[in-house]
Amino acid sequence: MSESVKLIYNGNEFELPVIFGSEGERAIDISTLREKTGFITLDTGYANTGSCESAITYINGEKGILRYRGIPVEQLAEHATFKETAYLLINGRLPTREELTRFSVLLNDHSLVHEDMRAFYENFPRSSHPMGILSSMVNALRSFYPELQNLEEEINMTVTRLLSKVRTLAALSYKISRGHKVVYPRPDLAYCSNFLNMMFDSPVRPYELDEDVVRALRVFWILHADHEQNCSTSAVRLVGSARVTLYAAISAGIAALWGPLHGGANQAVIEMLSEIAEKKNMKKAVERAKDKKDPFRLMGFGHRVYKAYDPRARIMKKMADKVLAKLNISDPLLDIAKELEEIALKDDYFIEHHLYPNVDFYSGIVLRAIGIPTNMFTVLFAIGRLPGWIAQWRESIDDPKWKLYRPRQIYIGPKETSFVPIDER
Ligand SMILES: CC(C)(COP(=O)(O)OP(=O)(O)OC[C@H]1O[C@@H](n2cnc3c(N)ncnc32)[C@H](O)[C@@H]1OP(=O)(O)O)[C@@H](O)C(=O)NCCC(=O)NCCS
Repeated sequence: MSESVKLIYNGNEFELPVIFGSEGERAIDISTLREKTGFITLDTGYANTGSCESAITYINGEKGILRYRGIPVEQLAEHATFKETAYLLINGRLPTREELTRFSVLLNDHSLVHEDMRAFYENFPRSSHPMGILSSMVNALRSFYPELQNLEEEINMTVTRLLSKVRTLAALSYKISRGHKVVYPRPDLAYCSNFLNMMFDSPVRPYELDEDVVRALRVFWILHADHEQNCSTSAVRLVGSARVTLYAAISAGIAALWGPLHGGANQAVIEMLSEIAEKKNMKKAVERAKDKKDPFRLMGFGHRVYKAYDPRARIMKKMADKVLAKLNISDPLLDIAKELEEIALKDDYFIEHHLYPNVDFYSGIVLRAIGIPTNMFTVLFAIGRLPGWIAQWRESIDDPKWKLYRPRQIYIGPKETSFVPIDER
């Protein structure tokens, strides 16, 4: 039975339909509001705006739940591979053994990047941030891999190329930035192992794969694989809604993810923890985060959707303990992070504002332990988020209700005023 809400304004009644999600969330469909009433809605930062209906990821921020296609992320982190998770997100269900084999063969076949792309890398200034490089290189892929005539084939090929090549592009940027010999992907290695090998293998020190390190990266990528309509995913959908190529839409997603309030937070957390360690000022950091006159925030704390403990942070925290123990590493930043969390979670400000550690709070410590340099952290996040971006883009272009993203505004600038010639100003 369809339900509606009534809006009463100046004695006039307007009816608007209510939309229900499969987990009981409710929305008022305001798409006809302006036509019926002349009003638009105003929601700065879209904090209370649903931009689409989606069947990909479910988050319950109050209860700390995250599921991909209905499957709890905890189960995927425990049992799935990253490739299976990517397939699940993009195709809507887990692959059969044959489907997974076919998917793996395709990813292997497309894992090389055009040799001419190396010239770009070699000409970026050495100080360039790898996120800027990755965003540019993903956009450049279109020029090297022109569009195919058959639309379905074009989409499938682009998706495969992106999933496979982004790993190679990321590792390439690291090797070239260090002036080291490039390592090619290997057909005998699985997705995560292949990336680690491309990053760390060297002619003078062959890389030895450690199954716990591979597992840590796999879990990191699975936990980052999708997160419904976050900033970068919305960027992918928004840019994609102009019907640009998937490469351009993903490139926009990478640019959005780079920001310190979004994916860049994992790098910012390590920088913050290192500064706290150096100056031994943990309590001061908490006080500064609470001070409204100070722009400083506790990085890795708080989330637009989670008002409870981020389920990904819980897994990442355990992973940090496990990896450090396995690799016999003692990282003072992990102790500082745990102590900081303890202080913050007992503090009235953090309690009242529902601020808990988010996924970025412990993930940098894990990445550091497995040898990933700090400026590559967000690149690793981008590789993990890629299946989610692709799934969301695909869902948006297949949506029969698809529309160009084009929000409205409330104009608060000057009323009509006349042009003043330059000599009279
Ligand atoms: C993620 C984030 C941008 C979400 O922000 P949001 O939903 O827009 O919430 P707001 O920025 O409106 O913050 C709400 C309140 O909590 C406070 N707050 C939010 N995060 C905070 C943090 N990390 N440290 C201190 N205070 C914080 C804000 O100052 C604000 O306080 P007020 O209501 O008294 O003015 C925000 O929590 C943040 O900046 N966190 C640090 C960066 C980070 O870890 N990002 C990764 C996200 S996965």
